[in-house]
Amino acid sequence: MSGAGKTPDSSAKREIRIVLVDDIAETREAVKKILGFEPDFKVVGTASNGREGIEIVKELEPDIVIMDINMPDMDGLEAAKRITTAIYKTGVIMMSVQNDPDYIQKAMLAGARFFLEKPVNMDKLYSTIRSVYEQYAGFRIQWEQAKQGIGRTPIDVSEISKTGGDRAGNVIVVFSGQGGSGKTTIATSLASGLMKEGIKSLLIDASLEFGDCGAFLNLKSQNTLVEISSKVNDLDAEYFDNIVMTHNSGLKVLLAPSNPNIAAEVRERVPDVVAQIIRQVRDYYDFIVVDTSNTLDPNTIPLLEMATKIVLVTTPTLHGIKNARLMLNVFDSAGYEQSKTAIVLNKAVEKATKVLPAPDKIAAYLKRPLSGVIPVVDENIILMAINSGVPVIASDRNTSRAPIAQLIKLSDQLFNELMGINAVSSITEGTPKKSGFFGLFNS
Ligand SMILES: Nc1ncnc2c1ncn2[C@@H]1O[C@H](COP(=O)(O)OP(=O)(O)O)[C@@H](O)[C@H]1O
Ligand SMILES: [Mg+2]
Repeated sequence: MSGAGKTPDSSAKREIRIVLVDDIAETREAVKKILGFEPDFKVVGTASNGREGIEIVKELEPDIVIMDINMPDMDGLEAAKRITTAIYKTGVIMMSVQNDPDYIQKAMLAGARFFLEKPVNMDKLYSTIRSVYEQYAGFRIQWEQAKQGIGRTPIDVSEISKTGGDRAGNVIVVFSGQGGSGKTTIATSLASGLMKEGIKSLLIDASLEFGDCGAFLNLKSQNTLVEISSKVNDLDAEYFDNIVMTHNSGLKVLLAPSNPNIAAEVRERVPDVVAQIIRQVRDYYDFIVVDTSNTLDPNTIPLLEMATKIVLVTTPTLHGIKNARLMLNVFDSAGYEQSKTAIVLNKAVEKATKVLPAPDKIAAYLKRPLSGVIPVVDENIILMAINSGVPVIASDRNTSRAPIAQLIKLSDQLFNELMGINAVSSITEGTPKKSGFFGLFNS
């Protein structure tokens, strides 16, 4: 049999423990047989639906799960989502006859990192398993450490955010399917605008390869995501707050790695590095604003998942609007509430031109209201802010000028909406949070 993709040394010693989840018995047997040809694979368990799959994964803690999508009882997407949050050392590979690209995105949003089409090509299956196994090396170490450190049950990562600080923990992810739409301009401005008295805000540059927040705010830091990522499994939130960069304005900023090679290394070591950091420090901030790249990758997807609010930035160009529509479809199919996404039209023109529609037409096309409309301005306004290292929102004393007025409005809207929601939910949870909302409005 073919052993393509095998590295003779490492595969001879190691044993990759695999669980198969598929409702069709013949498929389970066939895959098991195929995997049996390779000495480094061991199928330790099988299940015939998502619910059973989760049970077996919890019990056996395998390295890899190969999961069918369409199954009775609980489907593979839901099961993958639960497995990746509870047993984070386990890599999930989705397998399905569906070749609809939407399915792949759904699977990714469900926490699956890899997708194989049925009927599966053997070599592709082998190489995917080995590659996922290698990528999860960091998670396995972390998992074992957590287990030993606690001595009892391993930490459920979804629980981490419930310990520690007493802040509101709103995560605002600024995202777009399109480069150059104004994500960094808006993210830096929002983080600055949300910095009110008594409120703690943090800006994180999750655009790993080509992060611009440092350039926009004229910051260079020793302590970027790289340094933090090496301590991600043991991050003390207060320590974190002390070592992140502080902008002249007082804003805390965690910068992206200084070059793409380092970013690639971080991605390999901790694929969802930013989400992991946020989980640990979120309760120490009222707002964490995250600037992103424009790809749905394993770093970005968990951020969209955990977001309190996604600010989806679009521009009035045809491809900009089309991209926004596609992203909204992805969010819908992932089951996000419509209210999770705030659509912001940037570089808007008031009057339609031949090629650029007006905001009301764009809202109609997207079938959703626009939460913000930021006009296109003379590029010099933005460049001057960047040159002086000040967020655009704070770059002019005259706050009625575009785009400052619109950025302030957007930031205030988000502030009121999110701090309002938290005040209500903290009452229903019976655990009042010391959020700035009370200080600001109840005094
Ligand atoms: N409202 C606007 N009007 C005019 N130019 C803008 C506006 N918003 C952003 N820009 C410009 O667009 C470019 C891309 O902005 P940026 O925030 O870096 O986008 P992204 O982070 O999405 O790649 C920058 O050169 C910026 O000056
Ligand atoms: Mg950017």
